[in-house]
Amino acid sequence: METLFIGRNLIFLPEVQSTNSYAMNLLKNVNPPEGTLVYANYQTQGKGQRGSAWNAEPASNLTASLILKPFFLNLRNQFYLYLISAMACYDTMAEILDSSQFDIKIKWPNDILINKKKIAGILIENNILNNQVNGCVVGIGINVNQSSFDASFNATSISILLANNFPVFSVLETLCSNFEKHYLALKNEKFNSIQGNYLQHLFGLNTWRQFEINGAIKSLMILGVSDRGLLLLREENDSIMEVDVKQIRWFY
Ligand code: BTN
Repeated sequence: METLFIGRNLIFLPEVQSTNSYAMNLLKNVNPPEGTLVYANYQTQGKGQRGSAWNAEPASNLTASLILKPFFLNLRNQFYLYLISAMACYDTMAEILDSSQFDIKIKWPNDILINKKKIAGILIENNILNNQVNGCVVGIGINVNQSSFDASFNATSISILLANNFPVFSVLETLCSNFEKHYLALKNEKFNSIQGNYLQHLFGLNTWRQFEINGAIKSLMILGVSDRGLLLLREENDSIMEVDVKQIRWFY
C-alpha cells in the first residue's frame, strides 16, 4: 500500500461471515489502529444497506471494511463520511475505467452506478460507546470479476465492462489511496470542496425523476444534499423537501 495509514494494517481473511461484523468486533474488543483494513475473499453473510444481503461470488470481488476513528468530526458532519466514501469509490472506478467511455455516477447516498447499473455499494456502521462514536467501519463491496448477476440486481462488474479480468488487489490499492486523499481533505475541513466534488458526479442532479415517496409516486427534482446530509428535492409546486434513504424508492 502506498498510503500513510489507510490499509497499512491489513487483515486478510480467506472466508468470513462479514468483514463489517469482523471489523466491528475488532473495534469493540481490541484497539485497532485507524486505517486498519479487513478484506476477505469470500463473505458467507455479507451485509447490504437496510438489512439486505450482499452476495458476492467467492474470490471474484472486492469485499473490505475500513476502520476509522473520525473523532475530529462533529456529530452533525458525520454524513461527510458517506460523501467521501462514495468519492473514493467513484475515483477508483474512474481510474480503472475510462470515464469518457463509461457513465460513472454516484447514486445518493453512496451507490456507484456505471451506465445505470450498480458496481459498488457501501455500508457504514458506527460503534457507539457511552453515547460517543468510538469508531466507525466503512464496508465497501466492488464488483470486480463476477461475470453475471441475477437480472433483478441490475448490477455490473469491472470485468464485464472491460471484457477482461482485473486484479482485485490492485482495485483495493487504488481504493485505499483515494480514500486517504478524501479522508485527509475531510480532516482538513474542506467541506465545500467535498460537497462540490460529490455533486459533480451525483446521478440525476437537476433533473426531474420519478420517485416513490412515502407510498406515492411523484416527480421530483434532485437539488443536492442538505446540511443534514439528506437528499434535497424540489416538488412540482416548487416547495423544497429533504428525505432520508428509508423514505424513498428510486426508478432509474
Ligand atoms: C449496499 O449497497 O447495500 C451496501 C453493500 C456493502 C457491502 C460490503 S462488502 C464488505 C462489507 N462487509 C459487509 O458485510 N458489507 C460490506
